[in-house]
Amino acid sequence: KGREIIVVGGGGYIGAHVCKTIAESNGTPIVFDNFQAGHKHAVKWGPHVTVDLRDRAATLMAFQTYSKVETVVHLASSIEVGEGENQPEGFYENNVSGALNLLMAMRKTKANRLIFSSTCATYGETQNMPLLESEIQNPFSVYGKTKLAIEHLVQSYHKAYGLNYVTFRYFNASGADASGEIGEEHDPETHLIPNALKAAAGLGSRMKLFGTDYDTPDGTCVRDYIHVNDIALAHICAIRAMDDGLSQAEVNLGTGEGYSVLQIINAIEEVTGLAVPYDEGPRREGDLTQLFADAARAEEILGFKPQHSSLENIIQTAWNFHKNNWGV
Ligand code: UFG
Repeated sequence: KGREIIVVGGGGYIGAHVCKTIAESNGTPIVFDNFQAGHKHAVKWGPHVTVDLRDRAATLMAFQTYSKVETVVHLASSIEVGEGENQPEGFYENNVSGALNLLMAMRKTKANRLIFSSTCATYGETQNMPLLESEIQNPFSVYGKTKLAIEHLVQSYHKAYGLNYVTFRYFNASGADASGEIGEEHDPETHLIPNALKAAAGLGSRMKLFGTDYDTPDGTCVRDYIHVNDIALAHICAIRAMDDGLSQAEVNLGTGEGYSVLQIINAIEEVTGLAVPYDEGPRREGDLTQLFADAARAEEILGFKPQHSSLENIIQTAWNFHKNNWGV
């Protein structure tokens, strides 16, 4: 069964893809999830424990059950930017207190390696594109602030207690596994690609395009879309690099390419052969103008290069999953 790796949030969109990739690399993922946003049906490659990180005692108990495991991937968090703005207390509790409880349990059980999912939203508004890891971190949203607080927590654990870690700053996770068995299933769904596909499929209402007056070539926001299987692969590269002695790193996970919302809509129309019905609307609160990665460090220190992240493959695999899932 190979090496056991605890995947916290393994029932979620990115978590399920990470678990599948761990299994394909001859490991066994052990999923810890409270299954509030994650799905039990997405846990297919190993055991799971239902545990909520906000419960310190229960978290410690879960880690004690798997006390021989050294490596932990932490992906569980609240991710909805709007919810963070309106209900910061719950957001900080889930993300920051949850991460502290996890780190305390890891320290007690001597699990000494962490791969933490942070976000490009920790950088904040800047014209310095592509974004380097050394860019000032001045997050705009509560979501970004909680992730930055956890980055600092992890750095402190490294310095004081010798925790080894890789913090990934994800850009826009997208696409789905080619099998069609796992994919993006958020409720409510706030992300661009699934919402545009839903509108194209004629399910529900027309898509809302949030803002056409940004300082970008076509006036819509620019993002760096990376395939979820590339994100998963980067985790395997990080585990290998840690085997080879890497003890601390902050790493962007993006492709280096930026696409505007309108470019995504056009690409969806091309790949699916369907029109995306949409209405232009005002800006969405918390959105930054443009975000795309300098992706050099991931290649340099982890030997990672995206392989699945052409826009066409992202949209094709997402469409494939949603068609199965929605029964269209
Ligand atoms: N957008 C629309 N209509 C929609 C959904 C999105 O126009 O229905 C636009 C957004 O305004 C944004 C772009 O499409 O300009 C991408 O939006 P997403 O919600 O797909 O992605 P974000 O860049 O906002 O989100 C990413 C991650 C989130 C994370 C967030 C933090 O995917 O999980 O960064 O900033 F919370």
